[in-house]
Amino acid sequence: MANKIYLRFKQILPKPIKNILSSINQRLFARKRLQQKYGYWFDVDWRKKFSTLSDEEWTNAYDEVWKHHHNDCLDETDSELILSAISQAEARNITPIRTVLEIGCGYGTLAIAMATAGYKVTCLDVSSEALLRAKNRADADNIFITWQQGFAERIPFPDQSFDVITCCHTLEHVKDLEATVQGMKRVAKTALVILVPKQEFRLYAENYHTQFFPSKQELINAFGLQQYTCIELDCIEHKGEFQGEALLYLGFL
Ligand SMILES: C[S@@+](CC[C@H](N)C(=O)[O-])C[C@H]1O[C@@H](n2cnc3c(N)ncnc32)[C@H](O)[C@@H]1O
Repeated sequence: MANKIYLRFKQILPKPIKNILSSINQRLFARKRLQQKYGYWFDVDWRKKFSTLSDEEWTNAYDEVWKHHHNDCLDETDSELILSAISQAEARNITPIRTVLEIGCGYGTLAIAMATAGYKVTCLDVSSEALLRAKNRADADNIFITWQQGFAERIPFPDQSFDVITCCHTLEHVKDLEATVQGMKRVAKTALVILVPKQEFRLYAENYHTQFFPSKQELINAFGLQQYTCIELDCIEHKGEFQGEALLYLGFL
């Protein structure tokens, strides 16, 4: 509740004031507060060094993230929102949408919702720890999903092998944005459904974000597609872990 009030208060502040407060927080308090909050496993300096990390260091870091999260606080994405975006893509398409690749599936909530809705779902995530948790959840309900460990920057599937790609709260985590976007456009036949936080760059924060989308334009430019919709969302009242402003992009190939 206090967090929601704080987020609403931030929304009404003029941008220059917001920037000054953020800069004071970053310089004086943020790094120390994060070290105290998370302890040894959280890499406070992730943003300074992410581009130099090896694949192994990257996967180990995300495995640690998943080991230190409780299962019930991981659902960042509102599945209904994404299912409705897929329906919009379906409405434009002559052939039905059957196959979906979910990139950065995490704990698997969206993947399970999509499989339950009748799509044939494949999930890719860099963390085996996340995949194991997601698979256990799906298996418990006899839901069939294909699980694949790997990097969004090197999607290990042939060209046009999925009708739709979904990627929610993950694009802001990748090491190489351009390679990731090119890969998504290569493996998708019909549409891309992308959800990211609407966020200014910050050096110290409670997550391993590496890419920042302060407005719709950064996301639109990153994909460079001719046909798309991109909307701003206020997720402050959402049930999931993510509470803030987000951007939902639906790109057509
Ligand atoms: C914030 S979580 C989002 C999980 C889920 N999509 C949701 O909305 O709740 C980001 C996910 O991206 C994965 N990830 C991070 N870097 C990645 C990369 N380069 N390639 C593939 N997955 C990555 C992490 O393991 C994590 O599961």
